[in-house]
Formats: sequence, C-alpha cells, structure tokens
Amino acid sequence: MEFIDLKKQYRKYKDEIDRAVLDVMASGRFILGKKVEALEEALCRFTDASYAVGVSSGTDGLLLSLMAFGVGPGKVVITTPFSFFATVETIMLLGAEPAFSDIDPHTYNMAPELLEEQIKKLENAGKDVAGVIVVSLYGQCANMDEINQLCASKGLFVIEDACQSLGATYKGRKSGNLSKVGVTSFFPSKPLGCFGDGGMIFTSDEKLYIHLKTLRIHGDIGRYQHRYVGINGRLDAIQAAILLVKLKYFKNEIELRQQAANRYDNLLRELEQQGHIELPYIAPYCQSVYAQYTIRIKTRNRQRVQQILERHDVPTAVHYPNALPYLEPLAYLGFKKGDFPEAERAANQVLSLPMHAFIEESEQEQVAEALLRAFQSR
Ligand SMILES: Cc1ncc(COP(=O)(O)O)c(C=O)c1O
Repeated sequence: MEFIDLKKQYRKYKDEIDRAVLDVMASGRFILGKKVEALEEALCRFTDASYAVGVSSGTDGLLLSLMAFGVGPGKVVITTPFSFFATVETIMLLGAEPAFSDIDPHTYNMAPELLEEQIKKLENAGKDVAGVIVVSLYGQCANMDEINQLCASKGLFVIEDACQSLGATYKGRKSGNLSKVGVTSFFPSKPLGCFGDGGMIFTSDEKLYIHLKTLRIHGDIGRYQHRYVGINGRLDAIQAAILLVKLKYFKNEIELRQQAANRYDNLLRELEQQGHIELPYIAPYCQSVYAQYTIRIKTRNRQRVQQILERHDVPTAVHYPNALPYLEPLAYLGFKKGDFPEAERAANQVLSLPMHAFIEESEQEQVAEALLRAFQSR
C-alpha cells in the first residue's frame, strides 16, 4: 500500500497532463508566462482572493511574504511550535527572531487565547513583535477570525501558512484567503500537488501584490531596474500547466478525501471509544481537506505501533516528531522541555495514516485491522 499514491493519480489524468506538458515544451516559454498567469487567475477564482502570485515553493512563498512585511533583524515573528520546519526557517533566514505560541490539543493549531498571552509577554519584555504566521495543519484551518482580530488590535500582520490546507474552508471561506496574506505549497504530496516544487501566495491587497510580484523576480520593476533585494522565486510553466489540469478535478478529489476520512472515522471509532487513540477533531466551522489523516496514539508506544503496521504493509508517517523550538538551529533561543507542553505531547503521539483521494475502501479496512492488532498485542 502507498502512503500517498501519486502514480495512481497520474494514471487517471495521464493523457491530459502529458499533452499539457508537451504544449509547454513546444512553446519555448518555461518560466512564468501564460500558464502561470492562467493558474493564478484560476486559483483566485477558487479561493476568492483578488490576487495570486505563483512562486517556486511554499517555503519561498512564506519568505517573500515576510520580506514584503519588512521582517528582518530586531523583529519578532510568532508562530506555532508544531509545524514543518519551513514555517520557522523563513523567519530565521531573514535574521528575525522566532517566538512560539502553543497549540490547541484537539486541532493541533495555534490557540488564540495562548497567542494573546504570548504577545503580551513579548511586549512586556520589550520585543518588537511584527506579526504572526498561523499554520492550518493537516488540512484544517486555525481559528483565523479570532487570530486576525487579535492581531489587528495590536497592529500585527497575519500570514496564513496554508501549505497543507488549500481546498479547506473556514466558516464557509476558503483557506489561503483568510488573512492579509496566505501561502500554499504544490509539493507533490499536498492536496493540490505538482510534479516538482511550486507554491502560490494569495492576497487581496493590491500594494502588497505588486510588491510580492517584484520581490519574486529579484526586486526588478522591469529592464534590470532593481528596486528591492528580492529572490528568484518564480513558478515554472510546466508545473502551472500540470496544476491547471489537476485543478479541474480538485473539487472532486477534496470530496473523495473527505469521504475517505469519514470511512476512517467509522472504522476506528471503537479504538477511540476504548481510549487507545484520538481521531482527528474537525471544528464545527471547518471543513478539512485532510492533507493528512492524523491520529493520536495514547496507550501504546508509537514506534511499536508503526512497526506492527509496517508488518501488515501499512506505511505511516509522523508529522512531526519534534516540536520546532527544540530543533538544533533554535538551540540559541534556550527553550526548555515543558515550555510548549501540547506541542511536545503531539510530537510524541501523532501518527499519520495512508490518505489520498484514491485510497480504496479495502485498503482502509486493512489499515484499521492492522491498528486493531497493534492494540491487541502486548
Ligand atoms: C506547513 C508547511 N509550511 C511550509 C511548507 C513548505 O512548502 P514547500 O515544501 O513547498 O517549500 C510545507 C510543505 O512542505 C508545510 O507543510
């Protein structure tokens, strides 16, 4: 069984994708251009954002957004302690100081009330807090309204790291378009993935949009007039062409993912009732796109569970085994165990199960049976 079956997905759309790629090859236009513009427009329609900027990856999307907000040395940016490393890495790349606010134990996303406390603490310590990167983890949006309101009252920017959540909704609104800036990733295993690296920034602020577009090409406003220091952060035409094909089927794939998640919920509910695991909790105002179907293992050693599942041909993954503040590049900040108890607990307990739009019912039953075995064995 595959954890995410990208080959199966390719076989479904093969003819259209092959044709789209060959068209780009024949066009001789490989970076930005019409395909990227068409994708930007299509994703504006999809998210209801006014503007979209195709970029080379989710990481570069975050980096460019932070640059557009003027983040640099002396500034503090708050984020979640439980995410992929790129979220904090981009803050550090710009010489700013990362700070963290612990997660809600059910959604694994930042908890607004803890964020408020953290902002106050940093302000009292005389820190120059510039903004917040909020991650919508596993495909479910964080409580963006509360976070946006809180940050607006403090004059802080908010970036939604929607790298895992394109296709999700929050109170009926689309992930990626829930704050001043949203960033998504087209890494192959994401809900909408390309055949390499790629990403997109969304905003409805025209000034920011123009700035982001300029930063994406070395700060060049045209004909080698470099107004800012930017980066090479452009999206390839081939990736855009592939994404335009996949986007046609994305709504259907989101539904299939949600159906698969419901099937898992039903298959695994008994294990939850017995107290062995916790199923994904989706807040009533959210619809998840289930970038991951991640459970919490409560009564067994997680590695042991993984080994048993592997013996039954069930691949699993841990997103993520470490809370960000304890990773080596952050050691200089001196965080100690116990500073972020919920992120630490999650890092020790979470386990992601095979999940993609085309997972078979029989495969999910196999996963559930293997899990049952893992909890029966001593
Ligand atoms: C939460 C989060 N942020 C940022 C990224 C970075 O995206 P990319 O791999 O496209 O650079 C990812 C994806 O891997 C992610 O999951």
